[in-house]
Amino acid sequence: MPLPKAELHLHIEGTLEPELAFALAARNGVALPYRDTEELRRAYLFDDLQSFLDLYYGLMAVLRTEDDFAELADAYLARAAAQGVRHAEIFFDPQAHTARGVPIGTVVEGLARALDAAEERHGVSTRLIMCFLRDRPAAEAMETLEAARPYLDRITAVGLDSAEVGHPPSKFREVYEAAAALGLRKVAHAGEEGPAAYVAEALDVLGVERVDHGLRCMEDAELVARLARERVPLTLCPLSNVRLRAIDTLEAHPLPRMMDAGLLCTVNSDDPAYFGGYVGDTFHAVHEALGLDPERLRELARNSFVAAFLDDDEERRARLIAEVDAYDFAADDAG
Ligand code: ADE
Ligand code: ZN
Repeated sequence: MPLPKAELHLHIEGTLEPELAFALAARNGVALPYRDTEELRRAYLFDDLQSFLDLYYGLMAVLRTEDDFAELADAYLARAAAQGVRHAEIFFDPQAHTARGVPIGTVVEGLARALDAAEERHGVSTRLIMCFLRDRPAAEAMETLEAARPYLDRITAVGLDSAEVGHPPSKFREVYEAAAALGLRKVAHAGEEGPAAYVAEALDVLGVERVDHGLRCMEDAELVARLARERVPLTLCPLSNVRLRAIDTLEAHPLPRMMDAGLLCTVNSDDPAYFGGYVGDTFHAVHEALGLDPERLRELARNSFVAAFLDDDEERRARLIAEVDAYDFAADDAG
């Protein structure tokens, strides 16, 4: 049995495996600029975040119907459950779909169908986090929030993703204020490619409860001390950082130093279909490459439940943390 864990940084569109992409393309009559799954996979060599985003948004053309979104999410949940995920907080990018003429209702209803069945089918509790695309205008994010109003009972939080540099968190101050007024919780990507100052801005201007990535906080010792003192969770994605060249090699990832600095770190898969592994694979990889011992892996798994939006089900949080604490690594492997 794998180590129980929560996944808190996962773009559902980033779980689109080449096989499903081609199946949906055939079903929906969408022509893809790749001959087959091998040619598509060969294109997964990225120079930076933007080069990934270009391919990621392009491949979304195959996602058209409620069934497509339900299938995508169910496939992710099955894979995640097999790797020990017991709770998943799932990002989606409504603007990437509405811009192609797919209504937000199609996206949310499709995802919700899979998520509603997830606890019984896969033993995974779920939350949905609606992300705004930071490289598009703030006014469009506000329109997206408005369009999401009929579905807010399905959405736990708002997030901020896409191309980071040049699009600081402060651009979305009003949108986040409006989201909070609607009872939504707040997270944001910051410090992935953008500077440490964006991490501070996400906290001070947007009032986020967790920082997605937050990697570059390490360039500002005072910020690190603050994040540690305030117990701000960071949702790190080590395999993503290597594939998008934020870090040269996994062996050079600062995760151990971040944990030593007292940061509340979690590890996650980001876009697992593109970056070489799901979250269990990520735990294995950091164990191998960074020499994190079982107690360090246990700390990461415990942190994932501590940082989860499970405030409405503290009993489940406590039960899952107890499972992590009782987990016997000797009976399994690195988790
Ligand atoms: N959208 C999907 N994956 C992302 C990432 N790693 N950073 C920013 N936006 C994203
Ligand atoms: Zn991300």
